[in-house]
This record gives sequence, structure tokens and C-alpha cells, in this order.
Amino acid sequence: MNNFTFYSPTEFVFGKETEKQVGTLAAKYGASKVMIVYGGGSAVRSGLLNRVKNALREAGLPFCEMGGVQPNPIDTKVYEGIDLCRREGADLLLAVGGGSVIDTAKAIAAGVPYEGDFWDFYIGKAQVTQALKVAVVLTIPAAGSEGSGNTVITKVETLQKMSLRAPMHLRPVFSILNPELTYTLPPFQTACGICDMMIHIFERYFTNTTDVEISDRMCEGVLTAIVKEAYRVKQNPQDYGARANLMWAGMVAHNGTCGVGCEEDWASHFLEHEVSALYNVAHGAGLAVIVPAWMTFMAEHHPRKVAQLANRVFSVPEEENLQEMALACVSRLKHFFRYMGLPVSFKELGIEHPDIPLLVRKLHENKGPLVGNYVKLTPAYSEEIYRLAL
Ligand code: NZQ
Ligand code: ZN
Repeated sequence: MNNFTFYSPTEFVFGKETEKQVGTLAAKYGASKVMIVYGGGSAVRSGLLNRVKNALREAGLPFCEMGGVQPNPIDTKVYEGIDLCRREGADLLLAVGGGSVIDTAKAIAAGVPYEGDFWDFYIGKAQVTQALKVAVVLTIPAAGSEGSGNTVITKVETLQKMSLRAPMHLRPVFSILNPELTYTLPPFQTACGICDMMIHIFERYFTNTTDVEISDRMCEGVLTAIVKEAYRVKQNPQDYGARANLMWAGMVAHNGTCGVGCEEDWASHFLEHEVSALYNVAHGAGLAVIVPAWMTFMAEHHPRKVAQLANRVFSVPEEENLQEMALACVSRLKHFFRYMGLPVSFKELGIEHPDIPLLVRKLHENKGPLVGNYVKLTPAYSEEIYRLAL
């Protein structure tokens, strides 16, 4: 196990009707004015936004708001938010939504006290040294941004989708997780979220670091639970127990607990981010296409951990031929994704002829000559994986 620092100060408030506590929580964390950030309208239609505003009013907290954050959030919305936040003098960003909304709120929080261009943080030109506080009312378990210090934004002009890790400054001070808020999710979005949280665990599980038994077993346990609860929620989207387990799983999958002490991989995410940047597909659906291809490649090049996953999570019987076990894992994973209503190839994703040379070029321009750690991907390897996804 490698040395590590794990800092996760977020207060999680979980359960039915917990959004009513948002005002008292914001006051507790010292907010004097709140800026609410939300998406394309689901929080308005469900009445959640009104309940949040009422709770802030009851706590005597003034607020301003910015809606219209789109999935795969963009830099231009962040600039708009930074301007509004400065004009209004808000000091706590309250994200009401999913990963796209939370990541936009985080970018604004880092950008407001910074004199330069907030994009500097995403391209490694500057480090975040201070940020406004961020808080969350989560509406979709998926990105895990409610418990992470990460944010992912796309620059419209260059179609660069870049992630920033600033756990010391951008982890939310509190996150409200009410599973009932996820009843209104379309089945496709539920499935995308399930896929995303599974892959957040894969990225940590696929490591060459030895003596990480705790992480391995946590990853396998959470993955087994996600698959089980996914079947339940597919059968009955109003199943509170299944929704609750999935909501907590999305947080556990990505707040770092499952990967402490491991060298993490993240190749699948980087491969996917180029796809959603270029074709604006849902991140979870993009992963459902990329990951089986990545795994097929690993069956040939480095099957050990894939075979372990196959046996411990997907009930593939142990045998001497690890490649066979790994390939069986791919086919069970695809079967599961298909059952959930996810695409497992570019074609099924609606991209008949992806521009693979462009994807490879952008990937390695943005992420360096070698991508990932489980097997370090050269441009030739990346190209092979994109082709396996056709
Ligand atoms: O915009 P609205 O109208 O709210 O609709 C959203 C959106 O269309 C809808 N939705 C959310 N909650 C709903 C709902 N519809 C009905 N009922 C509800 N309760 O779902 C759609 C997707 O929302 P979005 O926020 O985009 O989903 P997600 O949480 O999957 O976030 C995806 C973004 O997060 C990034 C992804 O790349 C992508 O840009 N990621 C962020 C990470 C992080 N910050 O740590 C890590 C991830 O790996 C990921 O890359
Ligand atoms: Zn993800």
C-alpha cells in the first residue's frame, strides 16, 4: 500500500425530506448570501427549487440564482456565474442538481477569488489556493461530485474536457442526499449514473499497487451491491431502499475511500471524456461503450485484476486461463449494461463513424503521451481501444 493523505470534511445529510435543512446548514457554515446553481429545469418542475428557496428564506438567508447549466457543463456558463456571484456578493455556492451543476458551482467557487482566468486551474497553469464554499442538494447519483474535490468542465472553443482536482478547497462543506429526489430520473439517466459510479470504482480497483486488500474488498463489495440494487431499481424505480443504496454508493464510489493507498488508473475516463467533449453524449453512456473495449484490451495485455473482478463480482468460475476469465467478465458486463438500457458500442451510442484519429490526438494532447497506469496507453493502444468500441 502506498502512503496517502485522505481529507474528506463534507457533512452528509441523508434521507427523506432532508432538503428542508438546507437553510440551517448554510447558516451553520457561515453563509451570508447564497448563490443557487441549477440545471435545465428538472429541479424547477419537481418543485425542489421552490422548497430549497423556502428553506433559505426561513433561515433568513438572502440568495441569487443561476439556472441553465447543461450536461457536460461548459466554460461560458462558468464565466457567467463568476460575474453574477461577484456582482451579488454571494459567499456560498449551492448546487441543486447532478455532476454538471456541482462542477459548475465548484468552478465558480474557485474562479471568484482568482484574478486570472479560472480555466488556468484546469490546464495546470495555476493551483487553487482559495475558493468560496460549495454545498450540494443532489438529484442524481452518478458523478460523485457531492463528495469529491473534483470538477470537470469543457471549453467550448477548443472542445477540451478537463478535470481539476482540488480536494483541500473544493469538497462541498455539506451535501444533502434525499433518495426520493431521484424518483423523477428517466431510466436512461439512472442507468448512466449506475455505470459512472461503477467505473469510478474500476478506476481505483485496476491498480498494480500490492497489499491493497482493504481497497480491493471495499471495491468488490460496493460493486456487488450496486449491481444488485440496479436490478431492483430497474424493476421498480420508486423503490426507496434501492434508490437509497444507489445514492450512497455513488458517493462512496468517488470520494476517495475505495482508492486510498492505490495508484489509480483513470484511462477509461480520459478516453471517454474525449468522446463526450466531441459528441456531447452522456458521460455514463460513453463509459458503457469505452469500458468493455478497455477491458477486452486488458484481457490480452494485463488480465490479472480483470480476472479477479470477474470471479469476485461477476461470479465467473476460477480457472487457469486468466484471459478467458477476463473475456467472460467483458461479456457479463456488457449483458448487464444492455439490460440497464445502455449502449455498448459507438454504433449503439449513435456515432456510426467516430473520428478515431481526432479522438486519439486530442486525448494525448490533453492528457500526455501516456494515459492511465494499469497499462500505460500509448497513442497506438488508445487507437486500438477506440476501435474495439466500434
Ligand atoms: O439539467 P436538468 O434539467 O436538471 O436535467 C438533468 C440532466 O439532463 C437530469 N436530472 C438530474 N437530476 C434529475 C434529472 N432529471 C430528472 N430528475 C432528477 N432528479 O439528468 C441529466 C444529467 O445530469 P448531469 O448533472 O449532467 O449528470 P451527472 O451527475 O452524470 O454529471 C455528469 C457530468 O459530471 C462529470 C461528467 O463528465 C459530466 O460532465 N463528471 C464529474 C466528476 C467529478 N466532478 O468528480 C467525475 C465523473 O467521472 C464525471 O466525469
Ligand atoms: Zn465518471
